[in-house]
Amino acid sequence: MLRHKIILGRAEDMLPTFGDESIDLAILDPPYKEMEEELHSVKNENYWEWYEGWLKEVYRVLNERGSLYVFMSQMNMPMAHLITSKIFIEKQIIGWYKPNVMIRVPQLRNYFPKMEYIGFYVKTEKYKWNRLIKVFGIKESCNFIIEPAIYLNSKEGVEHRTQKPLKIIEKFIYASSDKDDLILDCFLGSGTVSVGSERMNRNSIGVEIKKKYCDMSFNRLKEEVNQTKIGREQSVIERVGF
Ligand SMILES: C[S@@+](CC[C@H](N)C(=O)[O-])C[C@H]1O[C@@H](n2cnc3c(N)ncnc32)[C@H](O)[C@@H]1O
Repeated sequence: MLRHKIILGRAEDMLPTFGDESIDLAILDPPYKEMEEELHSVKNENYWEWYEGWLKEVYRVLNERGSLYVFMSQMNMPMAHLITSKIFIEKQIIGWYKPNVMIRVPQLRNYFPKMEYIGFYVKTEKYKWNRLIKVFGIKESCNFIIEPAIYLNSKEGVEHRTQKPLKIIEKFIYASSDKDDLILDCFLGSGTVSVGSERMNRNSIGVEIKKKYCDMSFNRLKEEVNQTKIGREQSVIERVGF
């Protein structure tokens, strides 16, 4: 039976309560420095200090076969990569091109971003790797992803501004974990990593600072669990703090 835990709290407070090497894979999508409306527990000027603090905790909780995927905006990427690669072994920077992103602020005096990055890092060279080519084909196995961004009117869209596509998350889960592994997302948002974990037969643990997003994650996950495939025991969802 799979178990999913959703915790209402701050990543920097919750991570220290997790055991050493208790996590198999971390897929993280921290609030971006430039998105002040998502920086609920840190001031913009302390952002990188805060970033390094929780990143060290992620390193401690990952086991020696564990990997880390971290979403990075174009502007955050250089600094985020510098800090992360001091702690982890760097493996790849994946570019994500979002063909459907449109210029919504015509008065913007800048180039409009249609790209972001995902850093792939490991704790040791013993990291798990399931070859993508076999299942996803050559095109989907390279370090450049073309995938539409998720909006409210997308098929899987919910009311979260920075919801990530399940297709990308499921690929990372496939490549870097095995059935029944435990997957962490300490910036859970709308719960995409938990839903992807359930779909891929993995356990999950999610932390999110906003109650409304914990509720949203719970509801998305419950819907997924209710579609449990025949012959499989229904997964359990535990709510902590809400
Ligand atoms: C970029 S979004 C994640 C979106 C998510 N990947 C999805 O697909 O819905 C970042 C999330 O981190 C949450 N957050 C911000 N600061 C936090 C903190 N200190 N601890 C935990 N969550 C936090 C925000 O409320 C937001 O929902």
